[in-house]
Amino acid sequence: MSAPLIEVRQLVKRFDEGEAAVTVLKGLDLSIGTHEMVALLGPSGSGKSTLLTILGTLMQPTSGSYRMLGLELAGAKDRALTEFRNSHIGFVFQFHHLLPDFTALENVVFPAAARRGREAAADRARGAELLDRVGLADRMHFPATKLSGGQKQRVAIARALMNQPELVLADEPTGNLDRESASYVMDLITEINREEATSFLISTHDETIAGRCKRQIRMVDGQVQTG
Ligand SMILES: Nc1ncnc2c1ncn2[C@@H]1O[C@H](COP(=O)(O)OP(=O)(O)O)[C@@H](O)[C@H]1O
Ligand SMILES: [Mg+2]
Repeated sequence: MSAPLIEVRQLVKRFDEGEAAVTVLKGLDLSIGTHEMVALLGPSGSGKSTLLTILGTLMQPTSGSYRMLGLELAGAKDRALTEFRNSHIGFVFQFHHLLPDFTALENVVFPAAARRGREAAADRARGAELLDRVGLADRMHFPATKLSGGQKQRVAIARALMNQPELVLADEPTGNLDRESASYVMDLITEINREEATSFLISTHDETIAGRCKRQIRMVDGQVQTG
């Protein structure tokens, strides 16, 4: 069997807030392969966002190993992590975090421009293709503020895919949407996961949303339980 896309071993995260130190991740093990679509379940406060933030290389674990694409990322230098993140990881958050004064297309193209220091014509073409893919071809030049909640989240998905990441981390991506928009967002993720070599890890406390993923893992007492 080929190496998994990500491999987490004995991951620990402790927050030291003066007297009140709290250990959120307690020796967590997790492997995710290429092309997987995995739900991360757990009640509020169970550590889902903490785990996704570490997997996204936006925060370092207290101890343990985190390998992605065969590289050890726990303890790696900030500069190397930024470069790695921009090339290999996409993010979708509960609140879309779009730039309000930018159009849908400008928001989608932004990661490529940020990565390269400038925007290329090919980036706009890929951005347009991605917006078409998420059903927003006719909203390309709308400012982000003129889009509905569901549409904004579809723009956020297109943006996450811009740099062709191997992994997309989605932190409660449907948490702020009505049932119908949430279902549409899950349809899209399923379709993209089927057609592209992108793995998705989607945190949610909604069993119905989790049931749309091929595999479910659960945060229990700072570790993950499979099945
Ligand atoms: N930066 C931080 N400093 C201190 N405690 C934190 C920090 N971030 C998260 N926590 C704590 O870690 C626990 C897990 O939080 P979180 O990962 O946001 O859970 P979830 O996403 O499952 O709701 C909570 O008890 C929270 O208060
Ligand atoms: Mg959270």
